[in-house]
Amino acid sequence: MASSIQCSLLFSLFFFAAVAPSLQQSFRPKALVLPVSKDASSLQYVTRISQRTPLVPVALVVDLGGQFLWVDCKQNYVSSTYRPARCGSAVCSLARASGCGDCFSAARPGCNNNTCGVTPDNTVTGTATGGEVATDLVSVNSTDGSNPGRAVNVTRFVFACAPSFLLDGLASGVQGMAGLGRTRIALPSQFASAFSFNRKFAICLSSSPTSNGVIFFGDSPYNFLPNINVSQSLAYTPLYINPVSTASAYSQGEPSSEYFIGVTAIRVGDRNLSLNSTLLSIDSNGYGGTKISTVDPYTVLESSIFATLTETFVEEVTAMNITRVSAVSPFEYCFNSSSIGVTRVGAAVPYIFLVLQGEEAVWTITGSNSMVEVSQDVLCLGFVDGGSRPRTSIVIGGYQLQDNLVQFDLARSRLGFSSTLLGRRTTCANFNFTSNA
Ligand SMILES: *[C@@H]1O[C@H](CO)[C@@H](O)[C@H](O)[C@H]1NC(C)=O
Ligand SMILES: *[C@@H]1O[C@H](CO)[C@@H](O)[C@H](O)[C@H]1NC(C)=O
Ligand SMILES: *[C@@H]1O[C@H](CO)[C@@H](O)[C@H](O)[C@H]1NC(C)=O
Ligand SMILES: *[C@@H]1O[C@H](CO)[C@@H](O)[C@H](O)[C@H]1NC(C)=O
Ligand SMILES: *[C@@H]1O[C@H](CO)[C@@H](O)[C@H](O)[C@H]1NC(C)=O
Ligand SMILES: *[C@@H]1O[C@H](CO)[C@@H](O)[C@H](O)[C@H]1NC(C)=O
Ligand SMILES: *[C@@H]1O[C@H](CO)[C@@H](O)[C@H](O)[C@H]1NC(C)=O
Ligand SMILES: *[C@@H]1O[C@H](CO)[C@@H](O)[C@H](O)[C@H]1NC(C)=O
Ligand SMILES: *[C@@H]1O[C@H](CO)[C@@H](O)[C@H](O)[C@H]1NC(C)=O
Repeated sequence: MASSIQCSLLFSLFFFAAVAPSLQQSFRPKALVLPVSKDASSLQYVTRISQRTPLVPVALVVDLGGQFLWVDCKQNYVSSTYRPARCGSAVCSLARASGCGDCFSAARPGCNNNTCGVTPDNTVTGTATGGEVATDLVSVNSTDGSNPGRAVNVTRFVFACAPSFLLDGLASGVQGMAGLGRTRIALPSQFASAFSFNRKFAICLSSSPTSNGVIFFGDSPYNFLPNINVSQSLAYTPLYINPVSTASAYSQGEPSSEYFIGVTAIRVGDRNLSLNSTLLSIDSNGYGGTKISTVDPYTVLESSIFATLTETFVEEVTAMNITRVSAVSPFEYCFNSSSIGVTRVGAAVPYIFLVLQGEEAVWTITGSNSMVEVSQDVLCLGFVDGGSRPRTSIVIGGYQLQDNLVQFDLARSRLGFSSTLLGRRTTCANFNFTSNA
């Protein structure tokens, strides 16, 4: 992992050379805020930004490790401020865009001559295709950490145009994906350079299908009702870079834009799991390790890790007289909920501890994030088997992130995490979205 640390330092130095998108207003926000809802049928997390002139709301699937913002430009893209990126321009180099393309049908957003292109990626289905790089106006609410404030504009926000078919498999009503990954044109870097704030962002996904969670870009505090400053109680662990891209399509030598952390051990209750340590680190081909993902609805574990974790968990809950019932897909281990107690932090089952690199960096997964209610009387262990040679050994998925605040500090290459906020008597749905502008 030592070489990954060096690599991530180099990467962050490089970021400071990024071109700052132009600004109109003199008001300088300290942070920005976006709402995030959970789409009940696809289990995807959806955010909304305002884009174009005149401004329209655009719903987007949140892709934590995604490379950039991409939207469908084929249907209903109308904007007087749309600008395709001309070959050789600063925008093309910022986007690390390859080639120079022409388009042989009527000119429209997404179809222009002499433009550079990138590869928008639908990371839910693993489909990628070519798309024109462009800029347009994006408007987002600022925040003081407690409420949304006035809206601020980024006049030349860089994004990619995609054909409509790339939306297949995404939540209904969305128009693209919002990539929050480690590139110079992902949302966190563009917002940070537009407003000169720290290259830091935080996500807090709501477990409620009816109340919004929140994404913050820039500095804390992160205040939730009733007046709880979550930034005060984060534990930290280093972020790592996987040197081999994990995108659906990529060129050789490209690192992954996803966020990796180092799990060193796993405990279930007070039992240590015996794991194959080779699987826990990233090898030179980019295999192994642990990443965080908002497009995987549940945590996915390599088969041997899955088997060890679930066997130990089942032994522990059996000792508690919890009754096993038939499996309910995609889960293998399900239980009769009437045999399980209830606590403030979810179902009364043994906690699962992810021991991470760093002092006291233990991510605690309580019943609220380990047990999924699949019907009124059945709760299932919310982990799925990723097969025997998956690209990444541990993928921490959306369900395990709910009601946890996780902060990505890119300048310091570290992840801050809260474990469940239920223990602190708040939730990710408790950000006060009433504007105080
Ligand atoms: C691009 O250039 C070609 C060749 O000059 C032309 O036929 C085509 O219409 C142009 N396309 C657009 C979108 O302007
Ligand atoms: C800003 O927040 C207000 C109030 O929550 C909301 O109505 C508005 O749509 C938001 N604006 C943007 C650009 O997201
Ligand atoms: C942001 O852009 C919109 C649309 O062009 C405009 O109406 C609004 O006044 C701008 N806001 C600021 C703060 O410049
Ligand atoms: C929130 O906590 C952070 C970290 O301890 C601190 O720097 C900040 O001042 C606090 N903000 C508020 C409003 O309490
Ligand atoms: C589990 O491992 C930790 C160190 O990671 C050790 O302190 C503890 O004693 C072990 N527990 C058991 C039950 O072996
Ligand atoms: C550990 O995992 C690696 C990578 O998949 C594999 O090559 C090795 O055989 C495994 N070791 C054991 C003891 O299972
Ligand atoms: C489980 O059930 C057995 C038999 O009914 C009982 O003796 C034991 O105390 C129970 N254990 C727990 C942890 O409730
Ligand atoms: C769960 O247990 C209750 C009480 O023992 C029983 O009535 C119910 O049928 C069980 N449900 C399932 C799915 O096994
Ligand atoms: C939410 O914020 C608004 C605006 O600052 C404030 O008036 C309201 O009292 C807050 N809601 C709660 C429940 O504190």
